Amino acid sequence: MLTLLISLLWMEPIYGYIIDKLNGYNLAYLHLSEMMSPETRLDKPEKSTVPFYRKIFNDTLISCGGHSLESATRMLENNEADLIAFGKPFISNPDLVERFRQGAPLNEPDKSTFYHGGAKGYLDYPLMEQVI
Ligand SMILES: Cc1cc2nc3c(=O)[nH]c(=O)nc-3n(C[C@H](O)[C@H](O)[C@H](O)COP(=O)(O)O)c2cc1C
Repeated sequence: MLTLLISLLWMEPIYGYIIDKLNGYNLAYLHLSEMMSPETRLDKPEKSTVPFYRKIFNDTLISCGGHSLESATRMLENNEADLIAFGKPFISNPDLVERFRQGAPLNEPDKSTFYHGGAKGYLDYPLMEQVI
């Protein structure tokens, strides 16, 4: 807990400084991941760490980590990021974009299959039409 508190206190000044320096390198984009814990969900806007860096970085900014369709939409509408990336939801929903379009429920990712070789947990999640 103390480590977390200290890292939170130092995070913005240190990364803010680095990201400000990155402005001079004409990067195509900066892709930031939210601070992740197993429970991270960005349903509460105050949890997002990206808007702070938005004010510092002058070019295309991508946010990822714990996003739902709602949090992604909110960040884009609030101009807190230019693009939103999805990791785990895409692993467990190969048709993620279509599910978002239709407001369909998502398959939950099976974390026990993460970071292993083989097809299990990567190629065997059902498509929307197979479960609805
Ligand atoms: C199984 C798995 C493999 C990943 N592999 C990579 C990787 O190779 N490189 C990378 O930058 N991030 C990798 N990530 C992190 C994701 O790109 C993403 O930052 C992270 O999952 C948070 O976004 P999410 O909540 O939408 O999943 C991986 C994540 C998972 C779950």
